[in-house]
Amino acid sequence: KTVVLAYSGGLDTSCILVWLKEKGFNVIAFMSNVGQEEDFEAARKKAIDLGAKKVVILDQRKEFVDEFIWLGVQANAMYEDRYLMGTAFARPCIARGLVEAAKAEGAQFISHGATGKGNDQIRFELSCYALYPEVELISPWRMPEFFNRFKGRQDLFDYAKANGIPLPVTPKSPWSMDANLMHISYESGILEDPQQEAPESLYQMTKDPTKIELKPDRLEVEFKRGIPVRVKHLDEGVEKTDSLELYLYLNEIGGRQGIGRIDIVENRFIGMKSRGIYETPAGTILYQAHLDIENFTMDRELRKVKSKLAMEFSEQVYRGFWYSPECDFTRHCIDRSQNGVDGVVTMNIYRGCVYIVGRRSPYSLYNQELVSMDVQGDYDPEDAAGFIKVNALRLKEFQRLRQLQK
Ligand code: ARG
Ligand code: SIN
Repeated sequence: KTVVLAYSGGLDTSCILVWLKEKGFNVIAFMSNVGQEEDFEAARKKAIDLGAKKVVILDQRKEFVDEFIWLGVQANAMYEDRYLMGTAFARPCIARGLVEAAKAEGAQFISHGATGKGNDQIRFELSCYALYPEVELISPWRMPEFFNRFKGRQDLFDYAKANGIPLPVTPKSPWSMDANLMHISYESGILEDPQQEAPESLYQMTKDPTKIELKPDRLEVEFKRGIPVRVKHLDEGVEKTDSLELYLYLNEIGGRQGIGRIDIVENRFIGMKSRGIYETPAGTILYQAHLDIENFTMDRELRKVKSKLAMEFSEQVYRGFWYSPECDFTRHCIDRSQNGVDGVVTMNIYRGCVYIVGRRSPYSLYNQELVSMDVQGDYDPEDAAGFIKVNALRLKEFQRLRQLQK
């Protein structure tokens, strides 16, 4: 029996690795590089020392940006009005890597360290079932024989000591983190009290926006079909065109200007509310820039329909249904809506804020002559009188009815 384990290098998945071996599995440790700070070679060695048959480390950074994050940008994807879904976008990408590894190794089983209360178990497992219908999933944190044995951190420490699992050298931060190149999320532990403010030391991707002494960063972002294809710093002469480099560069600029922190309570798919803190620097800059170029170039009614689909898409992504017929459909429609969403947005990034200051496009629907207060253009102002009167008809009828009802 061979199992591919989504391995993080941390204490939990190290204990799971040893526990799976104890249960008679050949364990293959799979690590996805989605841009998290991590010493992958040290983690590889650790997994081998713990008895993994093999360690697969897959660099998924580029596909994460090109095939997942860019769709989020095109959609203006957002969950419950605030969360840009850095974890939700990464899970189907990582799951695809897991399934590829399982198939390549002839493994029937896939295992992961997500808890039984969260979204991630759903996202991993729905993605795995969709891509590998014959797979069998092992979710230790939902199995009584596992969770009754490991009731708290002390049990994990004891097990680690007994099994030669190196204990973490740095004391564990009093919250749980999930990091990738799009964001870092923090939840549970001391953050479970929703009114307890997080210490400044929690934040790893962004500077405190209230304490920034830098000048504004003036940037140009160019879009083609709603996808960022070029970023240029207007004062520092830096220009990036590769998707991954461009994204990482915006993280750097956003990070030093304190962009993209949120502290929210959200509704998990499984049913409970949870408090989470997120930092998404590049994602926040691109969200603002894309909104701007989209409204500059897109027809008004198309935009309305597209926004509704984007809401559906966001919920599908949050709930783990990336590989589903409905999400395939919304992705296709959103992509189609981006025909002509081309152009350049100019902005100032400064002290936690993104200020849009200009835009240009070869295909804009903006018609200066038509809107100008100074010239007539191809428009007869007398037509507006009829337009208003016809629209007022309903309102007048409604008032007539109100009078009758008095
Ligand atoms: N609540 C976020 C989501 O569902 C993040 C979940 C992972 N975060 C974590 N700290 N383990 O997308
Ligand atoms: C977890 O439960 O493992 C993390 C939180 C979540 O998935 O929502």
